[in-house]
Amino acid sequence: MRTDTAPTIFRQDYAPYPYRLPQVRLEFDLAADSTQVRSELRFEPAPDTAPGTPLVLQGEDLELVEVRLDGRPLSADEYRLDDGILSLIPPGHGKPFTIGIVSLCRPAENTTLMGLYVSGDKLFTQCEAQGFRRITWFPDRPDVMARFEVLLRADPAAYPQLLSNGNLIEQAGLPDGRHQALWRDPHPKPCYLFALVAGDFDCIERTETTRSGREVLLQVYSDKGYREQTRWALDCLANALRWDERRFGLELDLDRFMVVAARDFNMGAMENKGLNIFNAAYVLADPATATDAAYRGIEAVIGHEYFHNWTGNRVTCRDWFQLSLKEGLTVFRDQEFSADMLAEGLPPAEAASARAVKRIDDVHTLRLAQFPEDAGPMAHPIRPDSYQEIGNFYTATVYEKGAEVIRMQHTLLGEAGFRAGMDEYFRRHDGRAVTCDDFVDAMESVYAQQHPGQDFSVFRRWYAQAGTPRVRVRSTYDPATRACRITLEQHCAPAGLEARQSPPPEKPPLHIPVSIGLIDAEGTPMPIPWEGEPRDTIVLELREASRTWTLADIPRAPVLSLLRGFSAPVILETDRSEADLALLARRDPDPFARWDAVQETAHRHLQARIEADRDGGPGPAPGMLLDIWRAALENEQLSPAYRARLLALPAVREVIDRGEPMDPRAAVAAWTHIRKTLGARLADPWRATYDDLADDGGPYSPDPVASGRRALRNLALDNLLAGQAPDAVELALAQYRQARNMTESLGALTALLQHAPQAAADPLADFHARWRDNPLVLDRWFGAQASAPGCTVAAVRALMALPDFSLRNPNRARAVVFRFCLDNPGNLHTPEGYDFWAEQVLALDALNPEVAARLSRAFDNWARHEPVARAGMQAALRRVLDAPDLSRNVREIVSKALA
Ligand code: ARG
Ligand code: ZN
Repeated sequence: MRTDTAPTIFRQDYAPYPYRLPQVRLEFDLAADSTQVRSELRFEPAPDTAPGTPLVLQGEDLELVEVRLDGRPLSADEYRLDDGILSLIPPGHGKPFTIGIVSLCRPAENTTLMGLYVSGDKLFTQCEAQGFRRITWFPDRPDVMARFEVLLRADPAAYPQLLSNGNLIEQAGLPDGRHQALWRDPHPKPCYLFALVAGDFDCIERTETTRSGREVLLQVYSDKGYREQTRWALDCLANALRWDERRFGLELDLDRFMVVAARDFNMGAMENKGLNIFNAAYVLADPATATDAAYRGIEAVIGHEYFHNWTGNRVTCRDWFQLSLKEGLTVFRDQEFSADMLAEGLPPAEAASARAVKRIDDVHTLRLAQFPEDAGPMAHPIRPDSYQEIGNFYTATVYEKGAEVIRMQHTLLGEAGFRAGMDEYFRRHDGRAVTCDDFVDAMESVYAQQHPGQDFSVFRRWYAQAGTPRVRVRSTYDPATRACRITLEQHCAPAGLEARQSPPPEKPPLHIPVSIGLIDAEGTPMPIPWEGEPRDTIVLELREASRTWTLADIPRAPVLSLLRGFSAPVILETDRSEADLALLARRDPDPFARWDAVQETAHRHLQARIEADRDGGPGPAPGMLLDIWRAALENEQLSPAYRARLLALPAVREVIDRGEPMDPRAAVAAWTHIRKTLGARLADPWRATYDDLADDGGPYSPDPVASGRRALRNLALDNLLAGQAPDAVELALAQYRQARNMTESLGALTALLQHAPQAAADPLADFHARWRDNPLVLDRWFGAQASAPGCTVAAVRALMALPDFSLRNPNRARAVVFRFCLDNPGNLHTPEGYDFWAEQVLALDALNPEVAARLSRAFDNWARHEPVARAGMQAALRRVLDAPDLSRNVREIVSKALA
């Protein structure tokens, strides 16, 4: 859809669809060039639908062959076809009627990867959010739920396997040499959950018995020759099935559950009922080709899509504004699944540390992706009020902040209370399309029982308000009365385009759970008398603009450990001294708050360095940070995985984001300088750590202990190279040569590219020769180079000129173009870099608007930059906005950025 102006759709304008659609039958004559779809839609008017109400069906990029009403072909004056919309006036008798439509679509020409498309020699579909309308005319909205019967016909030589949702009813050869398969999905569903797959696949499978004793078949399909790389995904699927039974009492409601890997895919994966389609990057793994992080990513995404079967499919969204109803909740569920899997089988202390590592990684993602979004022109509440293109709202806010809003409800209700709320949610809404309010109502019913007289009326504002709230913390201690007074104050600045409104919108206070603990000057925890018991950690529920709590019986002046476990998605404002932060960094018993104290210390140091570079003053002394790092590095009580988090500098993008104004090149310079200094000053302990953590020669396992050792060892190598330790290059080359898994070889290659690019040439050539035929591994090769500081615009263009490169494959585009634009700020923020970005946004937009729109978001925060970067980015945005034939997707992003 290409337009000069795109209409805005508002949540407030929701109206139910006037017709019900109990039954759908689809017949596909599948071929890559042209596929014919014959649909039979059995409609009935909703109870209060007036006779003569038009029936409106959406279609996009389709060719209409015929329309029938109750079997009778309609002539062209009996329906309207306007801008893709097919409408007609159904018979006025109030009884059911059947619409039959025959249409054609062209999968091989479909580079958008929405609807029915070709990937390699196979056919796939992607329908969420509005891709089904590219397959046939339909009421393409999530609140119209139908039972689907699907007949697939194709040439068996090209497409031996024909898959769709639900159960396989029959399969047969046809007289014309083709074959067919009939699928029936017993569960009513919206069309965004429809899927079909056709092709020649390898498949592995296993049966599991659900807790009510039903046998279910789990299958994973992949390209021929990749069977052995799907075992981990199948294990994860079985673990997800068990976990949802155990933790939420939710059982698989199908006889068969299929996961299919696709090489070309716009996002991570899709939860189509019983037939999940995945980006191959989230299915395929073996030790030689996948990193530890990739193994964990597969577990998370397999879990996520599986959990959607209840949170998304059984209970779905009334309209797309409610997207976080299913996404925030399902991200929360996959985060908990991953944490439980990491902790499984470990003794309690190690289990807690493994869970904390997962929490740190999730919070890191939130701060890196969502906080900037919430401060930019695309800022929106987790339940948006309007959009131009819904594809642009699959955002970090809807997903990750949405998950934090669910997690806060979990914190407020406790595990048992949250479970009771979930049970109530399913009791009320199973089989329906509902709203975020419906979810909060169910949770509130439990909260009100637990806390008579209280409710979630303030909490609900999290769904309506954009922007990251700031919580200011002040405390005093009076030794005479042994009382500690803590004042929490919240405020939330206008988010993004809100700042342009006059008057700016009211932002009433939110309900914020702030988890805190106290330690004394020696770092000893001080229990807090709270609700009749001494507690190490308490949760203060802030619902007002400001409130003060008095904690009695505190024997000594405390240091506050704040926002333990990251109990709310807020920014803390404290006047904690460096010495307090250093104490917390060494002694806070809460592993999240401890990590956060180290991060905060590093951030302060980095900002001081940026200022010194700018003002020409002496740089800050790294003493404090060095001491904290050395202590963490040498502390063998801490798991290697946790130490790897403590010892990671904040990402460059976070450092850039903190600048006022943002100054990418200055941030890169300061970051590089400090990395060098820390690496050099701690060379001895880094070297000892590197040697201690050598591969023990045992079989590969992605478990948290083994992968934690590899993570810390790769970090040690990176630091040794950064600090220019004399034999660091030799160490890296040896690690590359001796590596027994992808985590080690890619770790060595990346570190060389970052710090000693001239020494990377041989391993790079070797890597390419070895993996040129494996697209996912080749993506790693591209990505490591595109994000290296030596990769100029000319160098990234050279990568794109290689025969292995194609902009049409989203994974490859992400590995090269996105990695350059997002992870290479030193080279992006140049005049050539800005031109490159605009040019690539436009090139991608001609092929795939959804992917192009993601890239276009890279310049969201242009206005917060220093003048030179700001002018360069603004001009590049203008150039995109002025280009002809922009997609609605990219137009929405750049026009909001420039608004
Ligand atoms: N529901 C999918 C998931 O989160 C995401 C699909 C989004 N697809 C899209 N084309 N925007 O698991
Ligand atoms: Zn999802």
